Amino acid sequence: MGGMTSPAIDRIQAALARVNDPEIKRPITDLDMVENIDVDDTGKVTVTVLLTVAGCPMKDTITRDVTNEVSAVEGVTGVEVVLGVMTAEQRSSLQETLRGGQAQREIPFAQPDSLTKVYAIASGKGGVGKSSVTVNLAIAMAKQGLKVGIVDADIYGHSVPAMLGVADTRPTQVEDLIMPVPTPSGVSVISIGMLKPRRDQVVAWRGPMLDRALVQMLSDVYWGDLDVLFLDLPPGTGDVAISLGQHLPSAEVLVVTTPQEAAAEVAERAGTMASMMHQRVIGVIENMSFLPCPHCGPEHRLEVFGSGGGARVASTLGARFGYDVELLGAIPLDVSLREGGDSGKPIVESDPTAPGAVVLNDIAQGLSGRGRGLAGMQLGLSPTAKG
Ligand SMILES: Nc1ncnc2c1ncn2[C@@H]1O[C@H](COP(=O)(O)OP(=O)(O)OP(=O)(O)O)[C@@H](O)[C@H]1O
Ligand SMILES: [Mg+2]
Ligand SMILES: [Zn+2]
Repeated sequence: MGGMTSPAIDRIQAALARVNDPEIKRPITDLDMVENIDVDDTGKVTVTVLLTVAGCPMKDTITRDVTNEVSAVEGVTGVEVVLGVMTAEQRSSLQETLRGGQAQREIPFAQPDSLTKVYAIASGKGGVGKSSVTVNLAIAMAKQGLKVGIVDADIYGHSVPAMLGVADTRPTQVEDLIMPVPTPSGVSVISIGMLKPRRDQVVAWRGPMLDRALVQMLSDVYWGDLDVLFLDLPPGTGDVAISLGQHLPSAEVLVVTTPQEAAAEVAERAGTMASMMHQRVIGVIENMSFLPCPHCGPEHRLEVFGSGGGARVASTLGARFGYDVELLGAIPLDVSLREGGDSGKPIVESDPTAPGAVVLNDIAQGLSGRGRGLAGMQLGLSPTAKG
């Protein structure tokens, strides 16, 4: 045993530089979170880490990651992690670092040089599977290696955090900068429900307060460099759609509908609304399209909710706008899709070969294959769904 050589401090520092703050997703060493490193002559290392806030929900993760990284350094015989809390001055200097000198209240995704693709998920009516589609597409893209965030802007109900397994997590706030909540799948999320002062409070989101909340989720949340941001909108054509249209005209809209005639009609209205706000509708996703026959298999589609809604919405909107609006996919009814949502483990991750997951993965693949700009996407070409 090389007990004679005490571990080198620069190696310990290098090890600590491999530990990311789970919320900010940058090395704790860059964020001035490492206050002190102490090595005694038996090779035992004590690292003092400053948390951004007391009772930080991520403290166990940080402790574990620091312990793992530092333990692996040659000569280290033990690791103790001591947690402290940043002072108000340290927090505001961190906030400044994170803002990178950028003026407050600016929406990074609305800047002309933004490289983040923003997809707004819209629907005419509720319950068509918007949130399920949002979380699964987001995770599918994260699994492709993209950095993905979700804004849950549904003012009527906030199901996205629960679907991602973080129903009870509140975001950490560093001064007036809010950290998005990290989820086990790597996607970060902020829900409008998280902005309430108290959890049990009932807030009627509308008017200027709603607008402020939406802007806050886009500009006061430290998203870092995202490749993709999904916005889960409330159903219909209300205030949120108008507000987001004003603040994020560059967002591209995906319309979710069921095959039903009535649902298709209201979905068309939601699409038209988006277009009036100068957002481009890039495609339609038909959900709950069919039930694969339990006897014959998926070739026999039981059309529980009718048929043709998705194609109809796509062609109606395309004709109305004068550009191609594609039907991006038809997601079957799939019990495991619902179960995945209920248990906080979305299907593309927990059950990727399930019929619903295969289609969702294909849609995500098609979306990330699109370049920036106006080029349409090629879809439905390959039967080689990965499983
Ligand atoms: N393809 C599907 N197969 C089976 N169940 C589904 C499917 N899509 C969605 N569900 C289930 O239907 C319910 C509604 O879905 P979801 O919450 O995603 O819809 P929504 O449009 O976001 O609804 P809301 O308007 O309430 O926000 C959920 O329980 C979900 O698990
Ligand atoms: Mg929803
Ligand atoms: Zn059959």
